[in-house]
Amino acid sequence: MLIRRPKSWELKENQTTPHGLYLNRRQLVAGLGLASGSIASCAMAESKTAIAGRKLEFSSSKYKVDAPQTPYPMVTSYNNFYEFGTDKSDPAKHAHSLITDPWTVTVEGHANKTGTFALEDIIRTSEQEERIYRLRCVEAWSMVIPWVGVPLRKILAQFEPTSKAKYVQFVTKFERSQMRGTRWPVLDWPYVEGLRMDEAMNDLSFMATGLYGHALPNQNGAPLRLVVPWKYGFKSIKSIVKIRFVSKQPKTSWKKSAPREYGFYSNVNPNVDHPRWSQSSERVIGGGGFSSLFSRRNTEDFNGYGTEVASLYSDMDLKRNY
Ligand code: MTE
Repeated sequence: MLIRRPKSWELKENQTTPHGLYLNRRQLVAGLGLASGSIASCAMAESKTAIAGRKLEFSSSKYKVDAPQTPYPMVTSYNNFYEFGTDKSDPAKHAHSLITDPWTVTVEGHANKTGTFALEDIIRTSEQEERIYRLRCVEAWSMVIPWVGVPLRKILAQFEPTSKAKYVQFVTKFERSQMRGTRWPVLDWPYVEGLRMDEAMNDLSFMATGLYGHALPNQNGAPLRLVVPWKYGFKSIKSIVKIRFVSKQPKTSWKKSAPREYGFYSNVNPNVDHPRWSQSSERVIGGGGFSSLFSRRNTEDFNGYGTEVASLYSDMDLKRNY
């Protein structure tokens, strides 16, 4: 993905080493313990604010994956968050500098209710649910993550978007003093992403506030990040401070940076290769148990969510609209 710097998530997979390789067995066991504990207890609220690591209040949902969850230490140490550096291990090392409380989200554009809102005023903790989704990165690796959050459609509906809102754009916080990676022009900061309104209102689109039952660690996009499980991971924009309802297809960071390689739609598609690598299969991070650090699986159309979303694209050529 990286264009101007050599260390990239576009490196061929045999050139990259998952950070997970360095995790030892004790860390893995600890992570798995946290996973089962948090699910079993189904969360007593300790705080209404999204301070990283706090236990969250949530109910369970119908969204599950028939595969093991990626161990917590891997979900939180093998990350892409270029505002903190381009190495997979950089976000876990450096994202603690991001101040996430208090946090506001500014809503602009074609909606009846716009303005700047405190995070607690737009996320109703009583509506939080857990959804276990597959995450498929365009770099051809994948994870299975138990997110906590609120369906995006519920968050957007409260702003009453008008009929002129055809798309929604999201913007990540951009504060150079807190985000050391933004000293380099790896991308045109701030990171921006977007969805068509019907994609945003699909029940699968999710705004995460936590994972594994606890508020998001900064490296995973605290305090508020998008999760769009049928699209490549770069659509799942982190640490959101702005939501804009717009009439035209908005700019998105990776499309701006390399339009031939990263499209607006970015639906997971095993039949449309990235210009520099195949998308037909993926490395399942942490999927090899203790004997190996990843396993391999065939990539599925829409990352396995075709039943829910294929109809959104019935009249589109998905090879052209990659
Ligand atoms: N959001 C911002 N603001 N900056 C980023 O660099 N990387 C994206 C996405 N969201 C990114 C971002 C990419 S490429 C992926 S694969 C996912 O975040 C990774 O999410 P994770 O680190 O929680 O696994």
